Amino acid sequence: MSQKKLKFNSKTIHGGQKPDKAYGAVMPPIYQTSTFAQTTPGGHQGFEYSRSGNPTRTALENSLASIESGNYGLAFGSGLAAMDAVIKLLNPGDEVISTNDLYGGSYRIFKQIFEKYGIVFHFVAMQNVNEIEKKINSKTRLIWVETPTNPMMNIIDVKAVSKLAKQHKVLLAVDNTFATPYLQRPLEMGADLVMHSATKYLGGHSDVVLGALIVKDKELADQLYFIQNASGAVCGPMDSFLVLRGIKTLHVRMQRHSENGRAIAEFLQNHPKIEKVYWPGLDSHPNHLVAKEQMNDFGGMISFIPKGASYDDAIKIVEHLNVFTLAESLGGVESLAGHPASMTHASIPKEEREKSGVVDSLIRLSVGIEDASDLIEDLEQAIG
Ligand SMILES: Cc1ncc(COP(=O)(O)O)c(C=O)c1O
Repeated sequence: MSQKKLKFNSKTIHGGQKPDKAYGAVMPPIYQTSTFAQTTPGGHQGFEYSRSGNPTRTALENSLASIESGNYGLAFGSGLAAMDAVIKLLNPGDEVISTNDLYGGSYRIFKQIFEKYGIVFHFVAMQNVNEIEKKINSKTRLIWVETPTNPMMNIIDVKAVSKLAKQHKVLLAVDNTFATPYLQRPLEMGADLVMHSATKYLGGHSDVVLGALIVKDKELADQLYFIQNASGAVCGPMDSFLVLRGIKTLHVRMQRHSENGRAIAEFLQNHPKIEKVYWPGLDSHPNHLVAKEQMNDFGGMISFIPKGASYDDAIKIVEHLNVFTLAESLGGVESLAGHPASMTHASIPKEEREKSGVVDSLIRLSVGIEDASDLIEDLEQAIG
C-alpha cells in the first residue's frame, strides 16, 4: 500500500519511514556525526555535513511531512527556531497579522526580535475572522494562527482564515502545537505552513526541545530549507530520534489526553469554587461548534479561573498540587500545571495579557495520561 494512503494511526508509525540502508535497522540509527566521507568532491550518498542534512533528521522530517499531510518537513533546534525561519521569509516593511492570544515566546520573538528589522505585527482576536480582514493591506504577507490558543483555548476557524488568505494572496501559517495532527491537520484545511513546538506532544515525554515546519509547496520548502541551512538552527540526531520515537505513539497518547481532558474539564465545570473553564470540548465554550467541525477531539489543555481568586490564591493552588507538577511546558505524558501570568506569558505586558483574558488568577493545565481519578483527587485537594 502506498504510504500516502495509510490512515493517520498508521502514518505515525510508518509514514515516510523505511528500514535503514546499512543493516536494515527498523528504527533509524542515531547518526551522531557532523560530517560524511566523500570519494571525490561531491561524491557522497546524499549527506555531506549535518547542518545541511543528517539521516536521522531526515527520517524525522519525512515522518513530520507524512503525519501533517504535507510534502516537506523541516526540523529545527526548537519551536522558536522554526518560527524564526518562517519570519526570515519576510522583508523589512512586510506585515504580519497574528492571533492576539498566543504563546508568550512567540509574541516576544515577533515584537522584540523582528520588529526592529522593520517587520510590522498586528495582533487581533481571530475568533472573529472579520477582524483579520480589517488589518489586511498591500503589505500583508503572513497570517499567523495559533488554535487552540495558548492559554485561553480560543478556536480559530482555519478554513475561513484560509479562504481569506487565498483571496488576498497572503501566506497562512498555523502553530499546531496544542492540537497536533491527531486532532487537526491545517494543511488539509488550506493552510500553507504548519509549525510545531515538537518539544510538546510530538516528543511527548518532556525529554527534548525541538521545532518543526511542514509545507506542501516545493518553492516554499526550498526557501525554508535555504534558511534552515543558512541560519543553521538545526536539531541534533539524538533529539531527532527522540521525537521520531515520540510520534510513533502520538495517536495513542492523544486519545488518552483527550479522554482525561474531558474528565477534568467536566469536574472543574461542576466545581462550586471554579468560576470559568476553558476547554473547547465543552458545550459552553464560545467556539465549540468550530472546534467540533475542525478537530477530531479536544485534547488535554485546559485553563480555568477559581472564583474570586487573586494572583496569590492561584499560586497557592498550583503549589499544593502533588500529581500535577508545577512546570513550564506541556504535552508530555505527565500532568503539568502552570500560572501563565508569572510563567509562560510573563513576557507579555500585563495590559496586553489581560486584553486577551490572561488574568492573574488563570491556571493552565496540561492533562497527562495518568489515571484520571488521581488527577481529579489532586485538583480537589489543591482547590480546597
Ligand atoms: C504554542 C507554542 N508555540 C511555540 C512554542 C515555542 O516552542 P519551543 O519552546 O520548542 O521553542 C511553544 C512553547 O511553549 C508553544 O507552546
